[in-house]
Amino acid sequence: MAGDVNTFIEAALGQHYANLTVDGPSTLPQHDLVGEDAFRAAMAALPTGVSVITTSDGDGVWGMTVGSLTSLSLRPPLLLVCLHRGSTTLELLAHQGRFAVSVLAQEQHDIADAFARARTRATAANTLTRTNGLPVIADAVAWFTCQHQHTYTSGDHAIVIGAVDHAEHRPGDPLVRHSSRYRCLQ
Ligand SMILES: Cc1cc2nc3c(=O)[nH]c(=O)nc-3n(C[C@H](O)[C@H](O)[C@H](O)COP(=O)(O)O)c2cc1C
Repeated sequence: MAGDVNTFIEAALGQHYANLTVDGPSTLPQHDLVGEDAFRAAMAALPTGVSVITTSDGDGVWGMTVGSLTSLSLRPPLLLVCLHRGSTTLELLAHQGRFAVSVLAQEQHDIADAFARARTRATAANTLTRTNGLPVIADAVAWFTCQHQHTYTSGDHAIVIGAVDHAEHRPGDPLVRHSSRYRCLQ
């Protein structure tokens, strides 16, 4: 039964909506919603891993730090990241059609800070390596290469979905972000 439903959804939506940008509802009355500061402060209580999205174009390698990496689906293997709509990386990865995600190790907070600056072009100092033809951060604890599948925009961010064609990890503790600070698991 589930298979039938999936086949139906795929047939109805799959190809047609591939790579389409869809705007979410924009008519919510602002006065019903929580203020930005309260929202930001409460969300900071949620610990997240810290990852870097990378992609390359004719000018070199571009990257961006994200805390929004989430596993979306196992069959097929999909992940998602939420990128702000002004992001250079967002524009680039949709255009290039491929991107990589590196989950940073606990000692890599300098790399997280470097890629949190807008329009960051990676340099040798960011110690890059390559997987599946894409730049990834060397010594990350996990890394994925993805084909760009969909972008859905909602509010001031876009949900980018990638189909994972390579996934690898190594032993080691990840970098964690909590209460606006970098932390270690221990
Ligand atoms: C720990 C951490 C997590 C972040 N997570 C996100 C995120 O999930 N989405 C996002 O849009 N920006 C996030 N940012 C901010 C971006 O890294 C920053 O805006 C960057 O300059 C965007 O680069 P770009 O505009 O060149 O693409 C995060 C920053 C830090 C330090």
